[in-house]
Amino acid sequence: FFDGKEKKLLSGKQVIVTAGPTREAVDPVRFFTNKSTGKMGYAIAEAAYEFGADVTLISGPVNIAPPSGVTICHVESAEEMFRAVMDVYDGADLVVKTAAVADYRPRFVHENKMKKQEGSMTIELERTRDILKTLGERKTNQFLVGFAAETNDVEVYAKRKLESKNADMIVANNVKQEGAGFGGDTNIISIFHRDGTHRDFEKMTKKEAAVQILKDAAVRIGEAE
Ligand code: CTP
Ligand code: CA
Repeated sequence: FFDGKEKKLLSGKQVIVTAGPTREAVDPVRFFTNKSTGKMGYAIAEAAYEFGADVTLISGPVNIAPPSGVTICHVESAEEMFRAVMDVYDGADLVVKTAAVADYRPRFVHENKMKKQEGSMTIELERTRDILKTLGERKTNQFLVGFAAETNDVEVYAKRKLESKNADMIVANNVKQEGAGFGGDTNIISIFHRDGTHRDFEKMTKKEAAVQILKDAAVRIGEAE
C-alpha cells in the first residue's frame, strides 16, 4: 500500500478515531441505533497506525475485530462516546469522527422492560450532545475531521457542517449512491476543506478512502506546524 515516505506520514502523532453506531437505550432490552457497521472508521484507524500514528479507536458496538496496534475503547451511547473522546482529546493531533452518532435518545430510560399495550405508543426523544461540535468549540491545536452522510444536497450540507462544527475537513458521501455508505466495502467520497475547495473521488475501497483522507489531513497538519 505505501512507499517509504508515506509510512512516516503520521509518525509521532496522536490520532483519535471514532467509529460505528451508538445505541440509545429505552429499556433494559431495547435501544435505538442506525445502520453503521464501523468499516470506514476501522479502516481509518488501521491506515493511521500504518502511517506511524499512535491510534485510539473509540468504537460503538460493531462486529469487526479492532486492527492490531491500536488502542481500542468500546462504548455504547453518544454520551459514553463523548466522555471517551474528551478523556484523550487534549493530547490529540488529529481526530477523525467517523462514528454515526445518534442525534436523539429516549428522554426516559425505563428501569424495567416495557410491556406492550393496546393501540399505538409514543416514545419521547431528546437531543444527544453533538460531539464534533463540542470538539470544535474546545479546539486548541487539534485537526478535526468530520463525516457527513447525506442523501441529497451533499455539497450544501457538507459545507454547512464544516462551518457549524468548526471542523477542518468534512468527508461527505451520498449514502443513496450505489457503492457508497453503510455496510459495503467501498465508498464514494468528497473531501471539503476550509479554504472552500473540495475534491471528488471515484468509487474505491474503504481502505483506499481511508488512505486518501489521512493523506489530505496529514499535509494540512504539517502546514499548520
Ligand atoms: N456527530 C457527532 N455527534 C452527534 C452527531 C454527529 O459528533 N451527536 C458527528 C458525526 O460523527 C460526523 C458529523 O458530526 O462526523 C456529521 O454527522 P451527521 O449525522 O452527518 O450530521 P449532523 O450534524 O448530525 O446533522 P444531520 O444528521 O441533521 O444531517
Ligand atoms: Ca446526525
